[in-house]
Amino acid sequence: MTIQWFPGHMTRARRQIQEKLKQIDAVIELLDARVPHSSRNPMIDEILRGKPRLVLLNKADLADQRATDRWIAAFREDGLDSLAVDAAGGQGIKEISARVKKLVAPQWERMAARGVVKPRAVRVLIVGIPNVGKSTLINRLAGRSVAATGDRPGVTKGQQWIKVGGEMELLDTPGILWPKFDDQTVGMRLAVIGSIREEILNLEEIAFFAVKTLAGKYWDAFVERFGLEGGPPEDPDDPRQIVDVLERIGRKRGCLVSGGRVDLEKASGVLLRDLRSGKLGRITLEEPEEFR
Ligand code: G4P
Repeated sequence: MTIQWFPGHMTRARRQIQEKLKQIDAVIELLDARVPHSSRNPMIDEILRGKPRLVLLNKADLADQRATDRWIAAFREDGLDSLAVDAAGGQGIKEISARVKKLVAPQWERMAARGVVKPRAVRVLIVGIPNVGKSTLINRLAGRSVAATGDRPGVTKGQQWIKVGGEMELLDTPGILWPKFDDQTVGMRLAVIGSIREEILNLEEIAFFAVKTLAGKYWDAFVERFGLEGGPPEDPDDPRQIVDVLERIGRKRGCLVSGGRVDLEKASGVLLRDLRSGKLGRITLEEPEEFR
């Protein structure tokens, strides 16, 4: 689900998260492992105000494992603990509770020494931009369907604590954040993975961007999935070479219009569908080195 964000929404979303911070011990910041930078809220550090935080790289089943490992190392360098998970399939989920507990341990030990805190479950809030997998993760951790659906910024509802094992309690309503809208590359990357509505952007434009940025690095996957002959674009800045790849995909998949020309919109749809579902292979759109 995509939300139309307006400045009022952002202020309200931020206020709601900060209100919830009072009740919780730690935050799980959910990112998409294929775009860990672009799926991140630009003001996250400011919003969380130093709350202990575990970063989860979700949809790791769709991402390039080597890139995910590098992202985890990069977060560690920034002093953030992170973990790759697949909320839909269940991979990595068992580890979350122990990591969260470890996160709050130093603070709790200090408080326990002063007799301030008794042993209890760690209270956790999940935050992330739309479509990153917040509801899927909450339901997975709860072991049943509890997460609020149709979540919108600014809509408040009664919230409940969900027990996860004996050591963690989760708010059933996640904190919804917005991405960095003013950066075009961020927008395009989110569109490629299907997290921004296509009505806003043109399908061919998104597919063009996908080929331009991914064909070089993941050419073997393109060849394997579509049976393409010939090599990748030699010059990714030459639009004709990018369109040529889309045409080759279209021809292989029978996306033709009268006269034997390739229907570029159809070919774009085929590419994006295969990319988003993982049929093209495990692909990551951005590497941590790009942001260092
Ligand atoms: P949100 O609350 O953050 O908005 O996200 P939500 O849980 O609704 O998840 C968005 C989509 O991402 C869902 O797919 C969900 O199944 C999928 N998803 C969540 N986590 C993972 C994961 O780790 N791996 C993969 N491969 N997919 C994940 P959908 O197309 O909206 O629905 P459906 O496919 O479940 O029918």
